Amino acid sequence: MESLGVLLLHPLDTYLEQELDRRCRLLRLWDAPLDRRGEFLRAHASSIRAVVTGGGSGGGGDAALIDALPRLEIIACYAVGFDRVDLTRCRERGLRVTNTPGVLTDDVADLAVGLAIAALRRIPHADRYVRAGLWKANNGHYGLTTQFSGKRVGIIGLGRIGLAIAKRVEGFGCPVSYYQRTRQQQAYPNYTYLPTVVQLAADSDVLVVACSLNEQSHGIVSREVIEALGPRGVLVNVGRGAHVDQPELVAALAEGRLGGAGLDVFEAEPDVPEALMALDNVVLAPHMGSGTRETRKAMSDLVLANLEAHALSKPLLTPVV
Ligand code: GLV
Ligand code: GLV
Repeated sequence: MESLGVLLLHPLDTYLEQELDRRCRLLRLWDAPLDRRGEFLRAHASSIRAVVTGGGSGGGGDAALIDALPRLEIIACYAVGFDRVDLTRCRERGLRVTNTPGVLTDDVADLAVGLAIAALRRIPHADRYVRAGLWKANNGHYGLTTQFSGKRVGIIGLGRIGLAIAKRVEGFGCPVSYYQRTRQQQAYPNYTYLPTVVQLAADSDVLVVACSLNEQSHGIVSREVIEALGPRGVLVNVGRGAHVDQPELVAALAEGRLGGAGLDVFEAEPDVPEALMALDNVVLAPHMGSGTRETRKAMSDLVLANLEAHALSKPLLTPVV
């Protein structure tokens, strides 16, 4: 694919960037200053046939970008979530879109469980307590935390990631319920399907967002859902910030109407609401669900394999469109 002109929208993985540089004709959007990017795109529009983008902050693939690139053929997402790509516009233009499902499932599920345990057992708080010398100052005393084993876990979205979370928490003796927009044809005898997210929240000690972001799931964790989860409930979000009514979440946590939260994603990341920083019942992570060396390598290889397949007019490995 030496002749394939590829535009990388923002720095992702060093290995991916090196391989793109070695195997294609790579352009980096950030080589142009912010106010010169339109000019940069116009100057290179005739050679850009592929765009590579991530899923979190800085991710792209909106109609403006697509329209600026008349020779574009494919958008390869270095992410499982492709919510930043305008699929309607891609379909109109006949563009292909790929993502990186499967290879990151275990890592995201691991982090979801880790955030739940960290929030309930207050592991980051305990770490700060020890480092601040408070353990010693308080004669070896530390307050009590809340058990995770056996807690009722509710999962929004029983896709690959949701299912991997369910399997993990089963090992902790947690009964699992789930909500799914389209009820799985497959039956899960060990998991209880609930028809609304409010019911799921009311029935859960820990509510986990593991679905993809789209029009239907935008704001799915509403004020009503947060109220139903309640002052002893914990919300874990490994989906997207926009799944949650964030101002309401912050208010509920600060006022004790919600017990705690473990958050890997935020509405306007990397901006995190200042009010969250002050709360000890919240565990914050920098959108790192798939951020292990092992998985980022596998995601990079999948992006490269999809581009390679496209360049050779072979079937794409993991097509979205
Ligand atoms: C990351 O957020 C992803 O969608 O893979
Ligand atoms: C996608 O949403 C997945 O669960 O892998």
